[in-house]
Amino acid sequence: QENMLWGGRFTGGLDPLMVEYNESIYFDKALYKEDILGSIAFARANCKGGILTEAEFNKIEAGLREVMKEWDANKFTIIPGVDEDIHTANERRLGEIIGKDVAGKLHTGRSRNEQVACDMRMWLRDELRKIEGYLVSFLKVIAARAESEVDYVMPGYTHLQRAQPIRWSHWMLSYGLAFAGDLERLRETIKRVNKSPLGCGALAGNPFNIDRDMMAKELGFEGLLWNSMGGVADRDFVAETLQWSTMLMMHISRWSEDLILYSTAEFGFVRLADAYSTGSSLMPQKKNPDSLELLRGKSGRVFGRSAGFMMTLKGLASTYNKDLQESWEPMLDTVKSVSDSIRIAEGVLATLDTKPEKMKAALDPFMLATDIADYLVRKGVPFRETHHISGQVVALSENTNTPMDQLTFEQLKSVDARFEQDISDSFDYEKSVEMRSAKGGTSKESVLEQIKVLKQMLDA
Ligand code: ARG
Repeated sequence: QENMLWGGRFTGGLDPLMVEYNESIYFDKALYKEDILGSIAFARANCKGGILTEAEFNKIEAGLREVMKEWDANKFTIIPGVDEDIHTANERRLGEIIGKDVAGKLHTGRSRNEQVACDMRMWLRDELRKIEGYLVSFLKVIAARAESEVDYVMPGYTHLQRAQPIRWSHWMLSYGLAFAGDLERLRETIKRVNKSPLGCGALAGNPFNIDRDMMAKELGFEGLLWNSMGGVADRDFVAETLQWSTMLMMHISRWSEDLILYSTAEFGFVRLADAYSTGSSLMPQKKNPDSLELLRGKSGRVFGRSAGFMMTLKGLASTYNKDLQESWEPMLDTVKSVSDSIRIAEGVLATLDTKPEKMKAALDPFMLATDIADYLVRKGVPFRETHHISGQVVALSENTNTPMDQLTFEQLKSVDARFEQDISDSFDYEKSVEMRSAKGGTSKESVLEQIKVLKQMLDA
């Protein structure tokens, strides 16, 4: 224990399982670069403040860049039991390269508590920006498809029962606009993630009046965390990312569920590309939508990470507690799940084969029952009455085993005398979707307008 960076007061050894239990190096090493850049910025600011001479700073920086090269080349050797985490590992190696006399000055006024928050915020900010790019790219595919396939009409469902005709593009955009909401929220989240904790110390701040703004600027942060205790205690930036991810994955999961259904032989509206399907080891005919099932499945994993992490946080006393080390794995795992999921979803949609004739074939004249009611409304009949009349037409169709659009004019007239010859125009799916021309509806013009709105939301 005396060998550890914090070993001064210790004489007894650590239980071997406790060593392993305590170590975070096996996952936090992923952020070696952020850790080193943070150290360089810290040393530079300490040099400006007169804590380090110019020569000492230069030595530290060169040494840290050496350490970075070793990580880059996969040549950094972790010493088990000594390199507890990425911060101690980098400092240990720096000491070996430039000598402990100078390396020992790097940590002046600094705590791992601010370092860990700094590393995670920098990394997460960069990853979330990548995710923002993936989301924009996915949304562009949605917009492009919605534009080129705007003429496909299909059944829209409530309660999974055929409800009213809609455009296929209207379905796509219903999710597209939800994902655009995720994009807006993500951009908000990035702003809060990208604040600098450097200079917060262990909890009470920096005793050498270090230039916090200078460090923040060098590391690409936009603004500071303004309370040193909050600055080291805060994992809201992780929690917010996880919560953001749950909403996104919930959308992806519902989208996937729709497409899984639409790809069955019973619906047949879409066919997945081979690139996103797999076969069965037993049944030669099978083509399974594994990509969509995994998207749906991963959502559960992300929800669990988010709920679990809130439980980690909820009882913690002020500032740093080791429980906070439990923020790493949910963060790393969720970022990977989300980054991969958006790109898989984009691939699925970009290569999806659509079957407009199948969509059309699934339309059923009963889906025009509302249009029949609306027809009589236009003749001045109150809607509550027209709803009832249209219901009687549905019943007549069922009882006589005649599709609703094939009932004779006389049969319709027998239900209500106010039906006129032009009722035949109402048995038209295309007309039905075009009737819904108010903003946000399923007419061609409304759908094209939605695409415009969506595209505007893509610009930051
Ligand atoms: N490995 C630790 C973590 O991930 C770094 C901070 C350790 N700080 C401390 N006071 N023990 O949270």
